[in-house]
Order: sequence, then structure tokens, then C-alpha cells
Amino acid sequence: MLKTKIAVFVSGGGTNLQALLDAEKSGILQSGEISLVLSSNHKAYALTRAAENGVPSVVVERKKFSSQEEYEAQVKKIMEEHGIELIVLAGFMSILSEGFTSAYPKRIINIHPSLIPSFCGKGYYGLKVHEAALDYGVKVTGATVHFVNEIPDGGEILMQKAVEVKEGDTAEILQRRVMEEAEWILLPKAAEQVAKSLQKGQ
Ligand code: GRF
Repeated sequence: MLKTKIAVFVSGGGTNLQALLDAEKSGILQSGEISLVLSSNHKAYALTRAAENGVPSVVVERKKFSSQEEYEAQVKKIMEEHGIELIVLAGFMSILSEGFTSAYPKRIINIHPSLIPSFCGKGYYGLKVHEAALDYGVKVTGATVHFVNEIPDGGEILMQKAVEVKEGDTAEILQRRVMEEAEWILLPKAAEQVAKSLQKGQ
């Protein structure tokens, strides 16, 4: 059966992309294949990870376009050219409007480094999420994989995994633990689940 063609959207270090690439090798991700990496940032180390694993990549910088519509039209064109069926947002920092997300209903998933609905939505990304968790004093945080719609971090939740907050945690220490114990485990599993459900004939 044909594998679901996956594009991974990145902006930074690409540790979640790396987890997906490793999962493809280990067989955890077997119903889908990572066919393309799209980066919002030409300096993203995620691009190096793609190159090291023989995955084609493309950089599409929002600032190069005069409008959100033109930007999204270009991204859509690239998706069509590569026959992409599933988009995985992995540390992706550019906005995707309803004009884009509505073209891929239940075909875009995102990893967010908290237990949604806590510490999510506009302005909650990267370290800020963990700073908010520490400021609030939660004893448990974690990561969430959800479908993407027009509401930031607002789509249907697919999977979650809890992670303990420890005495003396800094935002950096907590971020690393959430990545290791939750994000890098959940995202490949969720990608496999959705890729399997989208496979031809399912
Ligand atoms: C990290 O803050 C991670 O928690 C979130 O996106 C950021 C970058 O991740 N998912 P990555 O290393 O680029 O995958």
C-alpha cells in the first residue's frame, strides 16, 4: 500500500523533525514517509538534519511575500507539486490562516509543549510556554499533538503525555525534559496514526 506523503514544517533546531526521521528508520513511522521539509527560516538547523537524511527541503520566508494570501498560495503550490497528503508542524513559527488550514481538514497536526488547554494560544511558544508553567507553579506539564485549524492551538486533541515538573527546574531544563519525555515520543506516534488512517484505501 502506498505510504502517506508527509511534509514537516520547521523553523528552528528541528529536534522534533529528528524524532520523526529516527522513527521512520526504526519503523515506528511506517505508514507515512517524510517527503519534504519546509522551513520558514533559511538558517534553521532543521535543514541540516533534512540534508543529512536525504530529505528534500525548501525555504519559504513569509517576509518575501506581499500578503498572507500570496505566501499561502506558494506553500499550497509546493504541497501540490510534492503530492503531500499530511503536514506535520514541528516547531513551525509562521502563521497559517484559515485559508490554508481549511484546505487540509484533519491533515495538519502540530506538537505543542504543554497540556492544552493550559499555556497555549497566541503568544505561547518555545520557552515562553515553560516559563508560564513554572510561573503558575504547576506540578505536571507535558505535550499535546492536535489537529490544526484557524485557532492557534485550538484543533481537536490527538494525543497528550504528562511530564513531571521538578524542584529547581528552569524553563530550559523543563523544555528539554518535555521534549525528551513527551514531544519526541508523541509526534512520531501521532504522525503514524494519522498517516495510517489516510493511507489509500483506508
Ligand atoms: C520547541 O519549543 C518545542 O517545544 C516546540 O517547538 C520548539 C522547537 O522545536 N515544539 P524543534 O527542536 O525545532 O523541533
